[in-house]
Amino acid sequence: MRLKDKVCVITGSARGIGRSTAILFAKEGAIQVLADINEEELKKTLELIKEEGGRERTTIMKVDVRNSQNVKEMIDKTIEMHGRIDVLVVNAGVVRVGPVEDFPDEEYDLLIDVNLKGTHYTCKYAIPYFKKQKFGSIITLASVAAHIGQVAHANYCSTKAGVLGYTRGLALDLAPYNVRVNSVSPGATDTPMLRSDVEKQARDRGIPYEVVKEEFEKEGVMGRWARPEEIASGILFLASDESSYMTGADLRLDGGWTTK
Ligand SMILES: NC(=O)c1ccc[n+]([C@@H]2O[C@H](COP(=O)([O-])OP(=O)(O)OC[C@H]3O[C@@H](n4cnc5c(N)ncnc54)[C@H](O)[C@@H]3O)[C@@H](O)[C@H]2O)c1
Repeated sequence: MRLKDKVCVITGSARGIGRSTAILFAKEGAIQVLADINEEELKKTLELIKEEGGRERTTIMKVDVRNSQNVKEMIDKTIEMHGRIDVLVVNAGVVRVGPVEDFPDEEYDLLIDVNLKGTHYTCKYAIPYFKKQKFGSIITLASVAAHIGQVAHANYCSTKAGVLGYTRGLALDLAPYNVRVNSVSPGATDTPMLRSDVEKQARDRGIPYEVVKEEFEKEGVMGRWARPEEIASGILFLASDESSYMTGADLRLDGGWTTK
């Protein structure tokens, strides 16, 4: 077991990549705190973890990562319960797509608040504990959109490129404390987020869902979407000691999208 008795916090674990990561971490023996704004779906994640025998070792918390105080409470409660945090997966994220000239201000605020400020708050309140422990691994969620342009995604791209910069900077700050900070950059991954993105683009362009889906499939050289479990295994690698010499790195799990 690669995470035996490691205390792991995962934000955005009610569905998609976060849920798959939580299930995988449970199989690997982790003690977990799972946080999300969507409490109903979070309970379903907990049920799925039960099947892996990890239910007693898992706590769920309703947390809005846009709310600094909320995030602080999540981190403080984790320390109260378990005394430390070994792995922090900063995964909660949102996507909004559309041409820049029509992009509603409130949608850009949401992207910034969740993807950038949420990432910052989640790290900010955990850092003092990581520094004291002199041990830990932080994994953020960037995207192919941090590396290359994507049509109708300029606003989303800006937040994910920000996550990449944040991750690199933080890696330098925390290296003297034996805390590693890395990101993963998924390509098109079959989650509710991607499906809603494809639906919106299909609606806006007046073309069938399947046509937009095929476009996304062709972006990677492997010709298909990733399963969320395939992203979770990259996150597990960065969480575990198998990546003990990696910090400030970005793991591209994009089916070759950014290689073309
Ligand atoms: N699916 C993809 O193709 C893809 C590609 C590249 C990067 N990513 C990134 O991976 C991460 C996970 O994406 P996913 O596809 O699993 O998305 P998803 O929408 O399926 O899951 C995201 C989770 O984050 C939660 N969340 C949203 N806002 C929140 C908030 N304010 N506070 C707490 N939780 C909140 C949602 O409730 C949801 O459970 C995101 O950061 C996303 O940007 C996804």
